[in-house]
Amino acid sequence: MHVFYRKGDLVSFLEGAREKNLSIGLVPTMGALHKGHLSLVEKALEQNDRVVVSIFVNPTQFDKKDDLEKYPRDLKGDLDLLERFSDRLAIFSPTVEEMYAGNVRAESYDFDGLDQVMEGAFRSGHFDGVGTVVERLLRTVDPHRAYFGEKDFQQLQIIRKMVELKGLPHTIIGCPIAREANGLAMSSRNERLDPATKEEAGVIHASLQLAKAKFGMESVQYIKERVRQAIGEHPGFVLEYFEMADEADLLPLDTIVQGRAYRAFIAVYADGVRLIDNLRLN
Ligand code: PAJ
Repeated sequence: MHVFYRKGDLVSFLEGAREKNLSIGLVPTMGALHKGHLSLVEKALEQNDRVVVSIFVNPTQFDKKDDLEKYPRDLKGDLDLLERFSDRLAIFSPTVEEMYAGNVRAESYDFDGLDQVMEGAFRSGHFDGVGTVVERLLRTVDPHRAYFGEKDFQQLQIIRKMVELKGLPHTIIGCPIAREANGLAMSSRNERLDPATKEEAGVIHASLQLAKAKFGMESVQYIKERVRQAIGEHPGFVLEYFEMADEADLLPLDTIVQGRAYRAFIAVYADGVRLIDNLRLN
């Protein structure tokens, strides 16, 4: 496994791979790696000769300074986890200075409204920050394919939009959500839940499944109310939002149109820890 801290060194290494006509995959992460991240790495290794995993806690996507400071960082632990995978892996772990060269600011994108709902509505400027860092990573690594989890489905759609807007040649691949045995979507934040709350947090996925079971049979209003009730039965759990939306434009479901894909999205505070999840409805 090769570890790079500077863009120039990574680019020279990748030139060698390109000269040999090897394919390159990119898996962007913010580190504190868990099995969800590793499922992306595995898929990228299946589909590419060389895989770059970037580990970079991107300051421009945090709207709260406190959140950025508290974000877990464990490069040594991450490298140990990745070491076992393959000598086809390259890790890119730049400093903020290396990525932003003294100008730590997000660019402003027109995501066609995709950033106005759900995560975008609750975290201002977040997706401009994500777009900025992902565009830089794509331009630096210039991979054949880049991998993103459906765990952050809105982010995945926004990155697809950014790639289209900027005319980038990279193929964006969405990967299924890795879950705990009780259905809870894997996340670095799960570490902050005590064992009992982590078990109870299975209700988040269960409520999405309930929405799926009722989808097309009951009204949107009825389903929303049932989900609100299911979450409300757990003291210490607070529902931030539950939406059912069209996968393509992320607009809240109005009437069901044949041939279109719909998805349910949820954000819940479990004992103060913010958890998100989503599930395809049809
Ligand atoms: P991070 O939260 O570290 O996630 C990195 C990638 O792992 C994202 O594509 C995310 O969707 C995926 N992922 C996280 N948990 C997952 C799970 N349980 N199953 C499947 N995939 C999962 O998302 C980011 O970092 C950043 O915004 C980033 C794209 C790296 C830009 O800074």
